Amino acid sequence: MASYVSRAAPRAFNASLRAAVRPQAVLQRAQRPAQPLFRRFIQVPAEQPRLRLGSVAPNFKAKTTGGELDFHQWIGNSWAVLFSHPADFTPVCTTELGAFAKLKNEFDARGVKMIGLSANDLGSHDQWVADINEVCSTNVQFPIIADADRKVAFLYDMVTEDDMKNIESKGLPFTIRSVFVIDPSKKIRLMMIYPASTGRNTSEVLRVIDSLQLGDKKGVVTPIDWQAGEDVIVPPSVSTADAKKKFGEVRELKPYLRYTNVGK
Ligand code: BEZ
Repeated sequence: MASYVSRAAPRAFNASLRAAVRPQAVLQRAQRPAQPLFRRFIQVPAEQPRLRLGSVAPNFKAKTTGGELDFHQWIGNSWAVLFSHPADFTPVCTTELGAFAKLKNEFDARGVKMIGLSANDLGSHDQWVADINEVCSTNVQFPIIADADRKVAFLYDMVTEDDMKNIESKGLPFTIRSVFVIDPSKKIRLMMIYPASTGRNTSEVLRVIDSLQLGDKKGVVTPIDWQAGEDVIVPPSVSTADAKKKFGEVRELKPYLRYTNVGK
């Protein structure tokens, strides 16, 4: 587990986020002198685990809208998608959560559990989920981690460099839009990091899961813009002779570029 040292302030972040999305609030804030007393203590890790594809996803315990959980236990023998959001009641995040919620059947079909994270507390999450369900005509069924103290955000490095540098003046760093796909052995298989200003693409998350799961099952790799069912590539480690034995028809464009089709 990472060790933590106390450093900056929690609620100031919410104020700065509200300011980011409400110009009027920016004006009001700019007119006020800095308020160091506004700061509270949060835990910023002195060191963070190195996150790499193939490394074990750091475990944590957290309160979520679905109850308290141990992340690894919660994953169990499934795949998991952990996706983070800057804050509750923000417009882009609302559209993202609504979109993920609508795709529950698609994730279920792939044996993937979804879990969101937002840097607010449970009371706020519950109210926000009601908003998401109303606005997006959906039913958010997966848990959302209440990460008001940014512990999981720090553990997974879901923060920007600028925010970490300015933590003393800003109070709290932004939690950005990260996506982690984790396999049943708890290894990180995909990391996507998007800026707060850009909503993610749910189809791309599903597309990569399809590629990873097909690759694990059949020992193939997938080309640019591949979609499930299309031709796949024989990896360089497999000879063409072996590929023909294994897959049947193999189209060799170059000795190093060989296509085959293994279905979905
Ligand atoms: C949003 O989710 O809409 C958002 C969050 C942080 C900054 C800007 C937009």
